[in-house]
Amino acid sequence: MRFVFTLGTLIAGLAGTAAQAASTDLAAATELAKANGCYSCHAAAEKIVGPAFASVAEKYAGDKDAAASLAQSIQMGSKGKWGRAAMPAHPSLSAQELKLLAGWVLATRP
Ligand code: HEC
Repeated sequence: MRFVFTLGTLIAGLAGTAAQAASTDLAAATELAKANGCYSCHAAAEKIVGPAFASVAEKYAGDKDAAASLAQSIQMGSKGKWGRAAMPAHPSLSAQELKLLAGWVLATRP
């Protein structure tokens, strides 16, 4: 009986985690960005090779299509929107990872 209860609690806990990951889980996105080298060209508040994520969030604030268009920029690469440097494509990221990263960038505050 006790085992069943514990298992139920565990499953409920896992379901909660999955629901959270489906929206913008900022901590998971930060780990994903680290693992994919985003920080070699970007930082939250200052320009490195690419624009500061806070500047990206500011530029697209109020644009309802921003999440989709940023996901596409990350996936396919981007050039000419911010300056002379280009961002390479990231073909190995899944649609869900792209969505998570785009939402995370848009949530960045300086
Ligand atoms: C080799 C350097 C480099 C890496 C690695 C890199 N970026 Fe970029 N990123 C750039 C540059 C340069 C730009 C500006 C491109 C332009 O002007 O269109 C940019 C632009 C962006 C933009 C804005 C795109 C737009 O449409 O305005 C986002 C969002 C972004 N990067 C997110 C990421 C994420 C997330 C990662 C990791 C998966 C990443 N970048 C990895 C260099 C990089």
